[in-house]
Amino acid sequence: MNINPNTVSYPPHFSDLKREIASNYPDFEARISKAWKEVIEELATATANIQQGGPSYIPQVDFKDLDNLTAAKINEIKRRGCIVIKDIVEDGKAIAWKESLRELVRVNPEVDGFPVDNKQLFDLYWTKAQVQARADPNFLKANIWLNNLYQDKSGKKSEGVDLSVPLAYADRFRIRKPGFRLETFPPHIDGGTIERWEDPALRKCFEDILTGNWRQHDPYDLKGRLDARSSMYGRPNQSTVFRTFQGWLSLSETGPTEGTLGLFPDVLLSNAYIILRPFFKPLVPAGSPDILDPKSWGIDLESPNFPGLVPIGGGFAGPYPTPFLHPHLFLEKTMTPVPKVYPGDAVFWHCDMIHSVEKEHLGKEDSTVMYIPAVPYTVQNFNYVERQRECFLKGQRPPDFPKGRSEAAVVGVGKESDIGSDLGRRAMGFPVAESAA
Ligand SMILES: [Fe+2]
Repeated sequence: MNINPNTVSYPPHFSDLKREIASNYPDFEARISKAWKEVIEELATATANIQQGGPSYIPQVDFKDLDNLTAAKINEIKRRGCIVIKDIVEDGKAIAWKESLRELVRVNPEVDGFPVDNKQLFDLYWTKAQVQARADPNFLKANIWLNNLYQDKSGKKSEGVDLSVPLAYADRFRIRKPGFRLETFPPHIDGGTIERWEDPALRKCFEDILTGNWRQHDPYDLKGRLDARSSMYGRPNQSTVFRTFQGWLSLSETGPTEGTLGLFPDVLLSNAYIILRPFFKPLVPAGSPDILDPKSWGIDLESPNFPGLVPIGGGFAGPYPTPFLHPHLFLEKTMTPVPKVYPGDAVFWHCDMIHSVEKEHLGKEDSTVMYIPAVPYTVQNFNYVERQRECFLKGQRPPDFPKGRSEAAVVGVGKESDIGSDLGRRAMGFPVAESAA
């Protein structure tokens, strides 16, 4: 997305929203000013560490070792907000899925995809390979493990959630060709745009930041997540479900510079900075050498600006942090490519994470992935899955995605019988035999 921050204007009620938030928390201005300075200082240190670590800063774990990780490793994964899980699916199975997707788009040249004249991101959700992958027992086991990184910080058992029951969220797949430049996915955050501030439930997730106690912020606290409305404006392509982690399963060998994913691997710090940013404005010109100094920033409760949000389709997209708007994130240094993955490896990133897609693919092979997040059972999520199941049975696109051509007539579309496990059937909202329930 091409963003010119100077041309973005926001509705006047956004300044009311800022003042409403400020009035909810005692000593708001003093507390967030202190937090802002601390977060900026920590970002400088984190930037040096991330840059030094490079791709290996992103934790990597073998699927078979998931249940035997040390507490230190789990803490590292949670702080960095991302993980590569290797060998979730056997190589042969992943490669067969890749070949079936290639064959499917070859024999169905009319299917929708982007870019239209050289399709690589396909508007297909129900191919046999996707249906099978979402129901894969190992994949769902990894989802359960990821979902269980969340808990209610108060120690109470949350009602209306079962982290041991994974749900399937149907999304697209891509077959990215080498040499193709892609400008479409600069650093951004999904799973809520203005809703992060505007929706009272989603805002609760960031309350410790808004009270100035940003170090206590727990991105894995279930409070707020279960009832959050992450899509208040009904914009297509905006997820309405609570995904603990977004993810993709790689069906090919892909490494840095080969069109892979980029991540800002410190979800605590990026959350703190992103949530505080609208309440501050620079007091010096953007190009000033002093722009990084916290003293160069003042409180902004007057303007309706939420820097990085982009009005689109009656709602908003983003946040899209940029070096211009969010200089302390040092995005040129901190956006870290995922280390090399092989068929059957998957990468998962926390739903609040800043992520991007490399513009260039300088490799020699297709980079093929299926987008499959980790989604726990919650009342809201299950309601979505029930509607999604009906779309599946009719070959229609899932509810969160733009309406379009049916997949019912696509050669190679998946059927209910392709869901090969009870865990998978339940994830798709289908009944399972009593003994398996
Ligand atoms: Fe995204």
